[in-house]
Amino acid sequence: MSRLIAVSNRVADPSTGKTAGGLAIGLLAALRKQGGVWFGWGGKTCRGEPTDPTVTRRGKVSYATVDIDETEFEDYYNGYSNGCLWPLCHYMLNFFHYERRFGQAYQRVNALFARKLRPMLQADDVIWAHDYHLIPLAGELRKAGVENPIGFFLHVPFPNIDVLRTLPGHRRILEMLTRYDVIGFQTSSDVRSFIEGLARVGFLEARLGYDRFRACGREFTAAAFPIGIDVPGVMQMADRSVTSATVKRVEDGLVGRELVIGVDRLDYSKGLPERFRAFGELLTSYPDTRGRLVFMQIAPPTRSGVRAYQDIREELEQLAGNINGRFAEPDWAPIRYLNRGFSRSMLMGMFRVARIGLVTPLRDGMNLVAKEFIAAQDPDDPGALILSSLAGAAEELDAAVIVNPYDTEGVAEAIQRAANMPLGERQERYRTMMAQLQINDIGAWTDRFLGALEAVRAQSSSGTPTITA
Ligand code: G6P
Repeated sequence: MSRLIAVSNRVADPSTGKTAGGLAIGLLAALRKQGGVWFGWGGKTCRGEPTDPTVTRRGKVSYATVDIDETEFEDYYNGYSNGCLWPLCHYMLNFFHYERRFGQAYQRVNALFARKLRPMLQADDVIWAHDYHLIPLAGELRKAGVENPIGFFLHVPFPNIDVLRTLPGHRRILEMLTRYDVIGFQTSSDVRSFIEGLARVGFLEARLGYDRFRACGREFTAAAFPIGIDVPGVMQMADRSVTSATVKRVEDGLVGRELVIGVDRLDYSKGLPERFRAFGELLTSYPDTRGRLVFMQIAPPTRSGVRAYQDIREELEQLAGNINGRFAEPDWAPIRYLNRGFSRSMLMGMFRVARIGLVTPLRDGMNLVAKEFIAAQDPDDPGALILSSLAGAAEELDAAVIVNPYDTEGVAEAIQRAANMPLGERQERYRTMMAQLQINDIGAWTDRFLGALEAVRAQSSSGTPTITA
């Protein structure tokens, strides 16, 4: 079995294995199984050229991290990754802000990653890069003579070409993706957008098979690999945590009222103001829900270096205050808005206690909260999931109550419906969704992707890809 080299902007903490986002569990399991390296930014900035990677070994896994020059980091991360690519991939062009130097820093940081990673590579390694921060990485590694199989997985949506072409240099983004051997997306509609994009700019040369293509002179696989979760892990965590003192306190604090829960990074793509307004609409249009439901929104702040993230924080504080001011009673406040993070285990316990999960992003690659909410439920008395049709998860979890997050009245109606959903219907929806989660769990995701990458090695005409130069 090949050694796995995983590359992502953020790397899991070697001592805890924790990282933001859902990929750590699957990636760590694969790295531990076949041995490997997890390479990325170490969370610190420096001035000038960074030193060689710091390597920490834990069993069969080495964590290799580099610092990034502070100005480069600002332009690569806040400027290009979060100011250009993030809004573009989420179809939210009002937040798009481009400057040429952002793109230049983005390319240079990818070149830096390639330069620092190159000496660590061995001939039989397979390389798996993650997310929009690293689109040019394969091209930079190829320039350095690396011929190993290199895969890329995009955790966010891939925009349709009519949106993508907003970005100056978008042809280069498409071209850089063709330097990978396997390009994985969350949904089939992302794959379609990518292939259509290649065709529209004149790069697509041939379709070689169901998911095999040739563009810009290179052959590659492009397919959907929807990311899953560790289903038994979440079930156990929810089981254990529901009896913990903290979760018990939350439950007692409800004094018989039903909990509606939302857990999201504080990001404008998550549709939080729209969700708050829909809850206000619910209380207005369905007065019987007043005093009966408590909406708890957990929203830890992120990317505070980007202006739009500061603005949304203010907007939400005002909205929550407004709705609470209008509807609260001496013994009941409709919204509990918590601007901080909690441990995963605590969150799973709160999901178990909740009657309704509200997952209503305006656009989302997958959204693992939707999947975790389901897996955390009590099979005998499961809560209902309200899910945005614009989240990747809706492709698999179509047994949720599907809503359009922009439709305030529609979301209010869905909450009302979920609050009154009979037990039999909740159980049936739960069983359908759990079956889907179990088939496509996190292990299946890593196995499928790495299988596709290994197939590239097997197919390669030279037999054993080597590192030249
Ligand atoms: C979310 C997205 C991931 C992305 C990550 C980066 O989790 O779903 O696709 O890689 O954010 O977060 P960061 O805090 O590093 O900007």
